Amino acid sequence: MHVLVTGASGWIGSALVPELLSAGHRVTGLARSDASAAALTDAGADVLRGSLDDLDTLRQGARAADGVVHLAFRHDLAFSGAMTEAALADRAVVDAFGEALAGTGKPLVIASGLLGVSPGRPATEEDGLVAEDLDSALLNHRQETARATVALADRGVRSVVVRLSPTVHGAGDPPGAFISTLSATARERGASRYVDDGAARWPAVHRDDAARLFRLAVESVPAGSVLHAAAEEGVATRDIAAALGEQLGVPVESVPAADAVDALGWLGPMLGLDSPTSSARTRELTGWTPTGPTLLEDIRAGHYTR
Ligand SMILES: NC(=O)c1ccc[n+]([C@@H]2O[C@H](COP(=O)([O-])OP(=O)(O)OC[C@H]3O[C@@H](n4cnc5c(N)ncnc54)[C@H](OP(=O)(O)O)[C@@H]3O)[C@@H](O)[C@H]2O)c1
Repeated sequence: MHVLVTGASGWIGSALVPELLSAGHRVTGLARSDASAAALTDAGADVLRGSLDDLDTLRQGARAADGVVHLAFRHDLAFSGAMTEAALADRAVVDAFGEALAGTGKPLVIASGLLGVSPGRPATEEDGLVAEDLDSALLNHRQETARATVALADRGVRSVVVRLSPTVHGAGDPPGAFISTLSATARERGASRYVDDGAARWPAVHRDDAARLFRLAVESVPAGSVLHAAAEEGVATRDIAAALGEQLGVPVESVPAADAVDALGWLGPMLGLDSPTSSARTRELTGWTPTGPTLLEDIRAGHYTR
C-alpha cells in the first residue's frame, strides 16, 4: 500500500514511517522544510513538499496514494493558546482529504485525543460520537473533527479515528509534549505538582505501540471505526507527579483546581481531567497488543528528567 503520512517527521510519525516501511508499504511524507524532507528521505520515505495550508497539494497527494494517515497538527498555535485556530486548521485538512477520497473506499486515518471524552468513567470507543458540550475549545473542536471523520464512512471513505492517550511517551519525547512540559515546569518552579487529590487519571501509550496501531488502522480497520491508543487505562496524575518529583529531586505538591493555571500553566486544567479509557474494542477489532514500557517506567528511566 502507498500511504501518505502528514506529520511524518514528528514524534509519532517518525515511529510510524519505519513501522509502515518494514511491513512492506511505500510511504510519502508531507514536509514543509528542508530539514523535515531530509529526515524523511533518510528514513526511506518519499517526500511531498507542502504545509497544512496547501490544501490543493494535500488533495493531490491523497489522490495519488492508496490511503492517508493524518498526524500533523498546528501545535505551534495550540500550545500558544490559539486552540480554536489550531483545531479549525485541522478540520480544513480533514475536509480536504475527505473530498479527495470520497467514493474511493481508501483509508483516511486521523489522530485525535482522549482527554475529556467521558470524564470520570472509562471512555469506550462508542463514547464522544454525538455532539457534547466540552468545556475546552480544543477538546470540543477536535471531537467535532473526529465525528466528521467518522461520517466520511457514508461518503465512501474508509475513515478511522485513532484517539490517542494524552501522553504518547518514550525516550526522546520532544520538549513541548505533555510530560516533558510537566517536567520542565517542575524543574523551573522547584516542585512537581498535581491538581487537588491527584486522583484524575490519564491513559498512556508508548510511541511504538501507538505507531503499530496506526499501521493496523490504515491496513484493515472497517470504515467509521474509532480506536483507542491507550495501553494503560489510567495512570493517576499524582503518581505521574511523584515519579517526576523523585527523578528531579523536588517536592511533590497538590494545588487546588482554582490555581491550576497559575501553578502549572496551560496544562493545569488538563491535568485535572479524569480520563480513564478502555481499549477493549480496539484490541478485539485489530489484535493490537501493546508491549510498553509503561509511562512510569519511562519516567523512572530518566527519559523526562535528563
Ligand atoms: N504526542 C502525544 O502525546 C499526543 C497525544 C495526543 C494526541 N496527539 C496528536 O497526535 C498527532 C501527532 O502528534 P506528535 O506528537 O507526533 O506531533 P509533533 O511531534 O508535534 O509533530 C507534528 C508534525 O506535524 C508537522 N506539522 C506541524 N505544523 C505543520 C504545518 N503547518 N504544515 C505541515 N506540517 C506541519 C510537523 O512538521 P515539522 O517536522 O516540519 O515540524 C511534524 O511532522 C497530533 O495530531 C497530536 O495532536 C499526540
